[in-house]
Amino acid sequence: MNELPEVKVAPPGPRSRELASRLASVESPAFEARRDARAQASRADQGPIVYARGRGSNVVDVDDNRYVDLTAGFGALILGHGPNVALEAARAAEDELVLALGDVYASELKVRACEALAALFPEPGARVMLGLSGADAITCALKTAALATGKVAAVAFEGAYHGLSYGPLAVCGLSPSFREPFAAQLGVPVTFAPYPSRDADDADDADVELDESLSAVRAALARGDAGAVVVEPMLGRGGCVIPPSTFLPALRSLADEAGALLVVDEIWTGMGRTGALVACLDAGVVPDVICLGKGLGGGVPISACIGRAGAMEAWAKHGGSTIHTGTHFGAPPACAAALATLDAVGSSLADRAAEIGARWLEEIAEACAPFERARVRGKGLMIGVQLGDAGEALAVARALLGRGYIVLTGGTRGDTLTLTPPLTVAPELLSAFVPELTAAIERGTA
Ligand SMILES: Cc1ncc(COP(=O)(O)O)c(C=O)c1O
Repeated sequence: MNELPEVKVAPPGPRSRELASRLASVESPAFEARRDARAQASRADQGPIVYARGRGSNVVDVDDNRYVDLTAGFGALILGHGPNVALEAARAAEDELVLALGDVYASELKVRACEALAALFPEPGARVMLGLSGADAITCALKTAALATGKVAAVAFEGAYHGLSYGPLAVCGLSPSFREPFAAQLGVPVTFAPYPSRDADDADDADVELDESLSAVRAALARGDAGAVVVEPMLGRGGCVIPPSTFLPALRSLADEAGALLVVDEIWTGMGRTGALVACLDAGVVPDVICLGKGLGGGVPISACIGRAGAMEAWAKHGGSTIHTGTHFGAPPACAAALATLDAVGSSLADRAAEIGARWLEEIAEACAPFERARVRGKGLMIGVQLGDAGEALAVARALLGRGYIVLTGGTRGDTLTLTPPLTVAPELLSAFVPELTAAIERGTA
């Protein structure tokens, strides 16, 4: 379903309010505290809607409002809400076998999924370790780096997000407040380097940012204790920041010189989101480890850590007594979903994302040109609109919700609208969003 919004009652409607209030009394109080802080910053109600169902690019809430979903479940629903080929494949697999026995007795679907994922790596002999979440894949990558290099420290980037379980949290540079209360529990010593932007105000600034970033990486690696350089090819939650084209190749060289693994987190950028199955490979950089998640299962939880043969063979040390596994890792329905998604993205959706994303970026940039503070950037269907501050971004996001468009805010300062619709979205819906966006920004200005 690719339909325009229909807002029947101002969101959140009464049923959403009632359910949200029940949830707030039983879930982590962090989320309500965050809503309160956001309401204060934006001077707008931040009460949540509650989803009832999703179809294609549409979400319907419990008050029967229909929205266009420009978030796709944090970027994971690349094929849209159901029905889609991944969910159908998962259901068919489930009818046969819900769970095999993980790393002890596999299913044929796990064999095929691992083969398909290993084949994404441009060198023979790549190995695959499956997980459920993006954080699982990053955990696996960090462990791989420690095993392969014997060095436990890591270099990561300010503004980067890699998940919130302990290993990924240690390398998560997005918000120090995610890390600080747990700092003593995080074992990985991490140096954070600044993440350079291709879209700095002028070319000289972009060069300075790149130099500063690479100098920080070089200095950290010179200490000799880092086994991994962990990087997103484009910051996702960090605000859709695209680095200069020489950034990833330079990291590749620096990691090689230092004997560290280059781990590329493609959990958000990969699976067609930025116009290629794997963004770094498209940019000509072969890392040691690629992490995929989010869109990989088309909505079904599955992630993968895909590593070059030479790095992954470290897992065979210790006679196999050091392993990384989990009860639900590699379950047949998830593997079936991944196979179906890989097929759909590889055969057409990545190209589609590149094409319709480029047009949408142009439309948004042109429409936002009169607003001097607005910065529009992105690649494929991962587009950021940076506004004046977090308060403005939240207020605009809220106004858009009222008009039937679901968007998230992100960026290190929370000032960026993050637009990541399903790759199957109808271009007409994207175009219809643009005047709503400018109207919402304008109302904020008035
Ligand atoms: C780039 C990136 N890496 C890792 C993660 C963590 O994935 P998950 O939330 O599935 O653990 C995310 C989630 O937003 C992400 O954007």
